[in-house]
Amino acid sequence: MSSPPASPTPVRLADYRPSPWRIDRVALQFRLAPRGTTVTARLEISSAPGGEDLRLDGEGLRLLSLRLDGRALDLRPDDRGLTIPAADLPQGAFTLESVVEIDPADNTALEGLYMSKGMYCTQCEAEGFRKITFYPDRPDVMAPFDVTIESDLPVLLSNGNPAGQGRWTDPWPKPAYLFALVAGDLIAHSARFTTASGRGVDLNIWVRQCDEDHCAYAMDSLIRSMRWDEQVYGREYDLDVFNIVAVDDFNMGAMENKGLNIFNSRYVLASPETATDDDYARIEAIIAHEYFHNWTGNRITCRDWFQLCLKEGLTVYRDQQFSGDMRSHAVKRIEDVLMLRARQFREDAGPLAHPVRPESYVEINNFYTATVYEKGAEVIGMLRRLVGDDGYAKALDLYFARHDGEAATIEDWLAVFEEATGRDLAQFKRWYSEAGTPRVRVTEQYEAGHLTLHLEQINPPTPGQPRKSPKVIPIAVGLLSPEGREVLPTTVLELTGAQQAFSFDGLEARPVVSILRGFSAPVILERAVGAAERAFLLEHDTDPFNRWEAGRALAKDLLARMVTDGTDPGPDWMTAMEAVTFDDGLEPAFRALVLRLPSEDDMAQTLHAAGHVPDPAAIHTARRRMQAVLANGLAARLPDLLAALDDPGPYTPDAAAAGRRALRMAALSLLSRVDGGAAARATFTTADNMTVEVGALACLLEIGAGDEELTRFATRWGEDRLVMDKWFTLQILHAAPETVAERTEALTGHADFDMRNPNRFRAIFGALAANHAGFHHADGASYRLLADWLIRLDALNPQTAARMSTAFDSWSRMDVDRQDMIRGELTRIRATPGLSRDLGEMTERMLG
Ligand code: ARG
Ligand code: ZN
Repeated sequence: MSSPPASPTPVRLADYRPSPWRIDRVALQFRLAPRGTTVTARLEISSAPGGEDLRLDGEGLRLLSLRLDGRALDLRPDDRGLTIPAADLPQGAFTLESVVEIDPADNTALEGLYMSKGMYCTQCEAEGFRKITFYPDRPDVMAPFDVTIESDLPVLLSNGNPAGQGRWTDPWPKPAYLFALVAGDLIAHSARFTTASGRGVDLNIWVRQCDEDHCAYAMDSLIRSMRWDEQVYGREYDLDVFNIVAVDDFNMGAMENKGLNIFNSRYVLASPETATDDDYARIEAIIAHEYFHNWTGNRITCRDWFQLCLKEGLTVYRDQQFSGDMRSHAVKRIEDVLMLRARQFREDAGPLAHPVRPESYVEINNFYTATVYEKGAEVIGMLRRLVGDDGYAKALDLYFARHDGEAATIEDWLAVFEEATGRDLAQFKRWYSEAGTPRVRVTEQYEAGHLTLHLEQINPPTPGQPRKSPKVIPIAVGLLSPEGREVLPTTVLELTGAQQAFSFDGLEARPVVSILRGFSAPVILERAVGAAERAFLLEHDTDPFNRWEAGRALAKDLLARMVTDGTDPGPDWMTAMEAVTFDDGLEPAFRALVLRLPSEDDMAQTLHAAGHVPDPAAIHTARRRMQAVLANGLAARLPDLLAALDDPGPYTPDAAAAGRRALRMAALSLLSRVDGGAAARATFTTADNMTVEVGALACLLEIGAGDEELTRFATRWGEDRLVMDKWFTLQILHAAPETVAERTEALTGHADFDMRNPNRFRAIFGALAANHAGFHHADGASYRLLADWLIRLDALNPQTAARMSTAFDSWSRMDVDRQDMIRGELTRIRATPGLSRDLGEMTERMLG
């Protein structure tokens, strides 16, 4: 028996050294075969004056030949790469040519070159290129690439501009993680774009034949993204073609490879019959995100992987701006904050907390997190608030002018803001280096026209960071008169100390304070506010985010009381909810958001933060009770509302129409609790679009009905893999807690369950983890089931297994019995022979 492998040594930011080697040009030649693809790589290398060995990364490659300036070298790679001793290297420039063989058909990890439904495709970020050829696989090594692909398949794609059948040349120097190759029997949905300066660009979305009529919305989104980046950031596209390919088997959402974006097909393909409004919104956002990377990520890339937020935080910030411009800023902001709290605040509160710019990692794929992406975007939003819109625009112009063609750092990023605006950002930089969600405690004092707000910030300890110093926190506030008039428009207070007071004079009466408007900082506000004041803000706040937030906070207060002492919500809440629900002066999408009660996971997080040990079963019961109370209170007026929202005419995916459907589905869900599902059943039967079809089905499943409809749904959609993902998800997500584990296990025996397809695996096990009361059922069956499947998946696809393991990251807020069970499962996973570096690191960190 061999001894267990030693824990791999972490990579540290502090150890960064510039590459001693430059790659001046890369020529790659692929001869494709499912098993035995050969890759010939000719690297033109400039040697370092230091006389160092040349180290190339390479994993799982069969080295067939290696020549230096034509002379054969007899070297053996180790399991992570190849070292060419300095003694073998000439002075100055030289050419290294390697030939390796790889087996894309056996690549179940979906990293490097792999096959998906008969097509070849690649995923190289972060470190997948080393599974294709020997190369200095680090983002600060940038080179122009020429690619030749030999294959019988008709469509052969790579980065850059076409240079003949199967030949591509990319003039823009790029790091290897942006390399891509696709070969398949594909068809293009095409359009043409003319840039602001008049250059023509061919746009193609490549899909399998059967999906050709599902590409129009993605293309429309792409064209709008290209125009928007010109108009808002002055960024033009820089190649003759822009290709997008949809792939069924993909670990993440999508990838911004230069000129050849590769997408998980669920973020490309849509038709009214098969995609929901949420799917449409996500397609628009992700198409934009990947396109925007062309400047923020590709033209300016990251020096090393610790700087990941440099491109991801900024690109998320940009795609959020874009979606806001396309749709509704208020609704978009609320949705983004819901997501931030659900994923990032949760991450920040548990064992996986890490700074926006981490300082060490074992497996970089484990750091494509809500903290790097979403908190990274929040940090940019704060920066913009602090320097103003003009300062932001100047800083961005300087950033593009100064760092185009470079691999940059967070220091470079902050320096352009300091130079463009004259502001010192030394304290602001703590947002990048310190993990954890700050708490901001607010108390107020009013006396004779004079209001004082006392603000205190608390920066809680996180793993490896016991003590922290105060951050600069922009707190947007507004004041309302008792009649609901705005007496102080939104003003940004800069909280820089541990404690600070801010005064407002000349007030006619005690104002109502609207604080943290627009969610101006990713913090948790601690403030004792009565139900009456929350209801007042829900009715009157002029800041739409805070108006929603007031309703949310009120619902959370009431729900917390229901959980802890069983008190039902009083009539004030009902009055406020009724007023919003039926106020035709408000955006329907906004009303739908107000009607959406806090999730069970959110309540568990909130109760835990308030010093309770949350009981998942009690939260589940209380939340259902709250829904029933709301449903009964609104029941009489719901049928009229539903009738008013039943749009005749064909489906359109625009925000206004989607908002009406969201409100309609929220109303239908409430009505289902009083009419036994009659209206939902009728709606399901007549639905002519997927939003309404799954919306109605979810209403039925929520009340324990809908089995017959599930069967009809499967019969209708059995051939459509993306729609069937919804079918798997829905029945687990809405199942009663005590039935979830059994139901999930049964579905893993379904003929259409394929663990090699990440979307399908996530459809099932993501739903299991998202059914809070079911996942945390006291019998521990769900914990066991998930652990079993993570172990199985890890042997095939470590990246997705590691990502899904985060379902366990909330263990420390649970009661002792559940903690023991989860720790037991994590320990069992960790002890698995041959466990991947990915899942190994995650279990280590979660076990602490
Ligand atoms: N850069 C991609 C995006 O955000 C994400 C790719 C991450 N993939 C990975 N295997 N870590 O659009
Ligand atoms: Zn990205």
